[in-house]
Amino acid sequence: METWSPASWRAKPALQQPRYGDERQLAQVLERLGRMPPLVAVGEIERLKVELSQAARGERFVLQGGDCAERFDDCTSDSVQRKLKILLQMSLVLTYGARKPVTRIGRLAGQFAKPRSQDTEVVNGVSLPVFRGDNVNALEATAAGRAPDPLRLERGYFISASTLNYVRALVSGGFASLQAAEAWQLDFMPSTSAYQGYRDLAHRIRDAIDYLASLGGQAEVWRKVDFYTSHEGLVLPGEEALTRIDPERRTPYNLSCHFLWLGERTRALDGAHVEYFRGLRNPIGIKLGPKAQGDEVLALLDRLDPEREPGRITLITRMGHQGIAEALPRLIRSVKGAGRTVVWSCDPMHGNTVTVQGKKTRDFLQITSELEQAFAIHRAEGSVLGGVHFELTGDNVTECVGGAEGLGPLDLARSYETGCDPRLNYTQSLEMAFAMTRLL
Ligand code: PEP
Ligand code: CO
Repeated sequence: METWSPASWRAKPALQQPRYGDERQLAQVLERLGRMPPLVAVGEIERLKVELSQAARGERFVLQGGDCAERFDDCTSDSVQRKLKILLQMSLVLTYGARKPVTRIGRLAGQFAKPRSQDTEVVNGVSLPVFRGDNVNALEATAAGRAPDPLRLERGYFISASTLNYVRALVSGGFASLQAAEAWQLDFMPSTSAYQGYRDLAHRIRDAIDYLASLGGQAEVWRKVDFYTSHEGLVLPGEEALTRIDPERRTPYNLSCHFLWLGERTRALDGAHVEYFRGLRNPIGIKLGPKAQGDEVLALLDRLDPEREPGRITLITRMGHQGIAEALPRLIRSVKGAGRTVVWSCDPMHGNTVTVQGKKTRDFLQITSELEQAFAIHRAEGSVLGGVHFELTGDNVTECVGGAEGLGPLDLARSYETGCDPRLNYTQSLEMAFAMTRLL
């Protein structure tokens, strides 16, 4: 294997990269980014790796979630609070349901770049480059807006820093109010017997939190909360610029987030993304669609985790509710057969996207179905599902259909705000967490 460096990916074919007009400006931006302080610390990354090794053994559960594409304009006090709130509430429900510690990883503070199936789209009769995330170009459908702008990478760094700074502040000091009864917005649940179980569960959780708080004081309960950040490692020049060699360990980390994942579209064994990921010491995820084959996955594991480091690899399957029964068992068998231990995570979102009334959506029931099947298949194969991966938001958007509020296709027009894929809204996310307690 040739020597790795943060730039060695440049010798390989790199898919999904923006084509910048101004190379000089790009070089200046990258040079500045290379001098900025990191956003996360190596100690935090290593702690996450330990937690992931526990999840791989079934001793912990991982909740990863957030926007499909974060938007720079959503870096506001309210929006960040709501995203953190839903993830913390879901994690409390899951902790209670699983009787296991839950690791929270946000698709947050850096999830600004998107892989796309097409390079261009036609808007009002004009062919334009597609939106590739706020780190690359603007959603605004004009030629100027869609031109990749290197300065956006730098803006993304600062927005990530602001977001993460606020998350850290909330987690360490100001978010105890989450435990208050009114913070749990449960009114969405119809007062039918089907939902009585969820209401009871919510009350028991609140009682448990109150009890803990009475023992140690409110702050104490929340001080133990860890929160990690993640994004898809996609735009490689930007990721390279935020790669640092740890002076103590003499090993490279991407210090823009704790966890990075390789997308389904950019995980080619000999491609630039796998080359870049290979040298990092961060824990990494690999998205696997329904066509993934066992030998392909084993080759990726050999390349990305030759030392079989505990907690290094999370395999995030996204096969669709119709594809999972056929595709997942063979992958589990291959991985087990090779004596490999990984965290298995289920992303029930990306294999269940459909277009209805001209809008991309996902059905709550199909999402639940893929999850249910994932739990059952792992159990049947003597494996463990160690985590889940959702696209969600704390806002009351109408992007996915179904759930207790009974959103239908006609509701999609009302509050459809995503810049990319449809997300579960606040109540759908909370309901999903309650539904998962049955599966855990
Ligand atoms: C995503 O997670 O937003 C994504 C693009 O996923 P995938 O690579 O699985 O399609
Ligand atoms: Co998505």
